[in-house]
Amino acid sequence: MSATVLFAAPAKDWEDYREVLPATLAGVGVAAEVVTEADPAEVDYIIFAPSSALKDFKPFTRVKAVLNLWAGVEMVVGNPTLRVPLARMVDPGLTEGMVEWCVGHVMRHHLDLDRDICRTDTVWAPHVPPLARDRRVTVLGTGELGRTLAQALAELRFAVAGWSRRSKEIDGVICLSGEAGLKKALARAEILVLLLPLTAETENLLDARRLAQMPVGAVVINPGRGPLIDDAALLAALDSGHIGHATLDVFRTEPLPPDHPYWAHPRVTVTPHIAAGTRATSAARVIAENIRRGEAGEPFLHLVDRAAGY
Ligand code: NDP
Ligand code: OXD
Repeated sequence: MSATVLFAAPAKDWEDYREVLPATLAGVGVAAEVVTEADPAEVDYIIFAPSSALKDFKPFTRVKAVLNLWAGVEMVVGNPTLRVPLARMVDPGLTEGMVEWCVGHVMRHHLDLDRDICRTDTVWAPHVPPLARDRRVTVLGTGELGRTLAQALAELRFAVAGWSRRSKEIDGVICLSGEAGLKKALARAEILVLLLPLTAETENLLDARRLAQMPVGAVVINPGRGPLIDDAALLAALDSGHIGHATLDVFRTEPLPPDHPYWAHPRVTVTPHIAAGTRATSAARVIAENIRRGEAGEPFLHLVDRAAGY
C-alpha cells in the first residue's frame, strides 16, 4: 500500500521539493505518492508550511502526522483543529546555516568590521579589537540551534553564556535559566543572540526593562522571531545609544513594511528572514525519515510539545 502525502505549502516550495522528496522517500524504502491536492479523507501525512492556505485539519480524518517544514511552529501549534502529532523541522543543514549566519554577524560586531571595511574618509586609523576570549556573548535559547551556536562560539574562544527554560550543561558555556539567570545573561551580553521560539512566555521578552539591563553599547542579533522584541523599546534604546546596533532577520510583520523605522535606522541592519533557509535536500531526508517511522509504527522524531508551544 502506498501512503498519500499532501504537500501543503506555497508553489515556490513545491518547485524545490517536487523531485527530491519522492526520490528521498523511495531511498528510505517508503512507497508514497506526494501530491499537492488530494481528497482529505485519503491523506496519510501532511507536509505543512504555516504560510500555506490550509487552516482546517478536521477533514483529514486518517492523517497520522503533520510535518512542519519550518523550525518555528508558532503559527500552527495552537490550531484547535490539529489533533494529530505535529513534528517540526530539525535539520542539520538548517542548523549549519544558522550557525554560519550568526557567527558571521557576531564576528562583524566583535571585530568592528564596518569601521575598517566601510571607511570612505581615507583616514588611516588602525585599531586592535579585543580577542574573542575577552568578548562576552549571550545566546538566549539553547535548543537545537542555540546550543550548536553557543558551542561553535565557545570553540572560537568567545566567553559564552546560554539561557534556556530548563537548566542544562553545555561544555564551555555558562548555562543559565529562570528570571535571575536571564538578568545575569543580559547583564554580561556585549553581543546578544536571540534563538528562542515565539510563545506566550517569550513574546516581548526583550522589553525596555531588560534592554536597560544590558551593557551600554551592546549589540542585539535576532534570528529568532520578531515579537521576541518590543520594537518601540528597541528603537528608543538604539536612539539613546544604550544599544549600539541591532541586526534583525525576523519581524512582527514580514516582509518588513517599507515605512518601518528599522529600514532607515543607522544602527539597524535588516535581513529578510534568511538566517537559515531550509535546504530541500537535507530537509527532505528529515521528512522522509519521519514518514518511514510512521509507516513502520515507530515514534516520530522532533515532536512539538503542544503545551509548551514549541
Ligand atoms: P528549540 O525548540 O530546539 O529550542 C528552543 C530553545 O528556547 C530551548 O533552549 C528552550 O529551552 C528555549 N526556550 C523556550 N521557551 C523559553 C522560555 N520561556 N524561557 C527560556 N527559554 C525558553 O528551537 P530551535 O533551536 O530549533 O529554533 C529556535 C527558533 O529559531 C525557532 O523557533 C524559530 O523561531 C527560529 N528560527 C529562525 C530561522 C530563521 O531563518 N530566521 C530558521 C529556523 C529557526 P529548553 O532547552 O529548556 O527547552
Ligand atoms: C523558521 C524556518 O522557522 O525558516 O524560520 O524554519
